[in-house]
Amino acid sequence: MSIQSHLKVGLLGSGEVAQALAVGFLKHGHRIMLGTRDPAKLADWKSQQSGAEVGSFAEAARFGEMAVLAVKGPVAIDAVRLAGAENLAGKAVMDATNPIADEPPKNGVLPFFTNYNESLMERLQREFPSTHFVKAFNSVGSGLMVNPELKGGPPTMFYCGNDEAAKAQVRAIIEQFGWEPADMGKAESARALEPLCILWCLPGFLNNDWNRAFKVLR
Ligand SMILES: NC(=O)c1ccc[n+]([C@@H]2O[C@H](COP(=O)([O-])OP(=O)(O)OC[C@H]3O[C@@H](n4cnc5c(N)ncnc54)[C@H](OP(=O)(O)O)[C@@H]3O)[C@@H](O)[C@H]2O)c1
Repeated sequence: MSIQSHLKVGLLGSGEVAQALAVGFLKHGHRIMLGTRDPAKLADWKSQQSGAEVGSFAEAARFGEMAVLAVKGPVAIDAVRLAGAENLAGKAVMDATNPIADEPPKNGVLPFFTNYNESLMERLQREFPSTHFVKAFNSVGSGLMVNPELKGGPPTMFYCGNDEAAKAQVRAIIEQFGWEPADMGKAESARALEPLCILWCLPGFLNNDWNRAFKVLR
């Protein structure tokens, strides 16, 4: 599937992930609105990004033909509630969140508030059944999300979700952002994808080595 040009994307979140992906969408000719509880704090950022719009979570959700979820894991459900389930009904939501608990890492290992048999994305999908969540961009740092230049070539982006049309839309974004897409199946697969963030962060916390991404070889 080639990606629709001038897609309107509502990003739920204002942190480094939302900002990095927003800049990527703008670079590729799409329109974006960042959603936050406090639009005023993004005035400087907005003034530096030609074409960027900033609004509330609900305004960003309404604006987007699709959305990106990029908020702290423990408040992901609250943020979607603020965005309004009705504003996201039938839309793809590219979910970059991870269920990282508030405690600090132990020997570099991030703590999760979920367990091996349940992912954050499944909780979101259960809570908001009319929205099509697709896990992606959760297992790499924000600095490498858009068109990463790594010696080993394009890295692999794992993604999963229940709705095939939503997955096709996210797959096209993954390709446009310079990654090899790897379809890992339905929502339950987020149980495997979310912990990849623990693995990805380990060399960072242990050796300050953050400039890496996963690649599947055959
Ligand atoms: N940082 C990375 O490199 C990276 C890489 C991959 C995945 N991730 C995941 O991506 C997500 C975003 O990470 P991040 O580092 O960009 O930002 P973050 O600091 O984890 O989250 C910031 C966002 O969370 C929102 N938020 C905080 N408390 C809230 C509440 N009570 N209700 C509603 N929203 C609330 C903030 O909203 P306001 O704008 O209203 O303050 C802000 O938009 C996380 O789940 C993280 O695990 C991060």
